[in-house]
Amino acid sequence: MRQYRIRGGNRLLGELKIGGAKNAVLPILAAVCLNESETVIHNCPRISDTFDSIEILNRVGCETDFCQNTLKVRASDLSYEIPEDFAKKMRSSVLFMGAFLARCGRVILPLPGGCSIGTRAIDLHIEGLEAMGAKIRRGDGKLFCETDGLKGAKIKLTFASVGATENLMIAATRAHGETVIENAAREPEIADLAEFLKKLGADIRGAGTSTIIVQGKQSLCAPVAHTIIPDRIVAATHLVAAAMTGGEIVLKDVRPFDLMPVVACLKEMGCFLRCDGDDVHLRAPERLRAVPRIETRVHPGFPTDMQAQFVAALTLADGQSEVTETVFENRYSHVGELRKMGANIRLTADKRTFVINGTNALRGATIAAHDLRCGAALILAALAADGESIVQNASYVERGYESIERDLTHLGADILLENSG
Ligand code: EPZ
Repeated sequence: MRQYRIRGGNRLLGELKIGGAKNAVLPILAAVCLNESETVIHNCPRISDTFDSIEILNRVGCETDFCQNTLKVRASDLSYEIPEDFAKKMRSSVLFMGAFLARCGRVILPLPGGCSIGTRAIDLHIEGLEAMGAKIRRGDGKLFCETDGLKGAKIKLTFASVGATENLMIAATRAHGETVIENAAREPEIADLAEFLKKLGADIRGAGTSTIIVQGKQSLCAPVAHTIIPDRIVAATHLVAAAMTGGEIVLKDVRPFDLMPVVACLKEMGCFLRCDGDDVHLRAPERLRAVPRIETRVHPGFPTDMQAQFVAALTLADGQSEVTETVFENRYSHVGELRKMGANIRLTADKRTFVINGTNALRGATIAAHDLRCGAALILAALAADGESIVQNASYVERGYESIERDLTHLGADILLENSG
């Protein structure tokens, strides 16, 4: 097991280039299965979820070559059974459903497990694909899916699910006729997936808005090169790290517009922020101000993937703040760990709202990550705490951050990634 050893107190200073987005590359690594020709993906993050997705691609018969941040994939002959061991590790393996039903007309995949942030249901994925003519049966912890040809459908999502939007958009590119997805998710990663699919020849309009219209095509095959958009959550995580340590940083190669909900909140907390082209400049105040209320929402609302990091920051703010998680039902594993560092956080009975009374200081402690963004939040708290902390279960963080210890060290943090005892 690996862990981070962090000595708090250093101000983060300097410039950092942000890499490709995990939540953009994962659906695209499912969509590459549509392409019998070569796909080249640039700015592909070297995170464990990427490596696990590549392992799935290899096991279903794709040829892959991953060198630095460039990944080449050719999906010539595919077997339609998604390997259980890897697929269970990642929720996003459910995205292979749409791609394989579109390409092969059938797929067998393990039921994606839930995880510590919620049940992670897939009813919207299944209902949408069935509306397009897929027959889906559960058995032995697997989903058996087949179709004798997907057909366009009009689908209204009861929740603007990111994954369901992506699965249905991918499937619709090869369906017969027109598919309309209403109440579609609007996250920037959806638009990046659509740009990739359009390079393949797909006819997609409205990606990034609440209504996506897809005209299905008989075949999608073309040599494609695509550059993954920057990771807005990694970028926001580093902004909060600088805010918590009284630092001043410039993030390079980000898309400031994607960061607007987070930038607004950091300004409310007293940070100076300036967006300049693809760069974002942040200077922290002496002490962060409390924020009366933050509610996570689907995009373009405040991102749930930044909730834990802001809770960590608000434990040091001057005053009382309230944060409500509306997207996932139990995204609060960071609360217990932050309390070990002296944070004053009260959870309401439904475990969705955190009432945070800021303290002057956190103390270093041995704490454990229980999921990806919990781990990121604990690293941030340790950077700002007095003394040394150990953040256990580094593998959670490595799912979504390419060498966070390298990036934070570059900004002046005292952080080591080490093997635990
Ligand atoms: C994507 O997960 C992201 N993952 C998550 O990022 C992110 O938190 C989430 O979107 C919300 O923005 C990837 O893109 C790989 P959802 P996804 O479907 O697609 C319920 C991170 O930290 N729901 O929008 O699984 C579901 O239970 C990760 O980077 C249904 O009820 O999110 C949840 O409560 C964590 N039925 C809510 O919707 C369904 O069929 C949001 O889920 C689908 C979803």
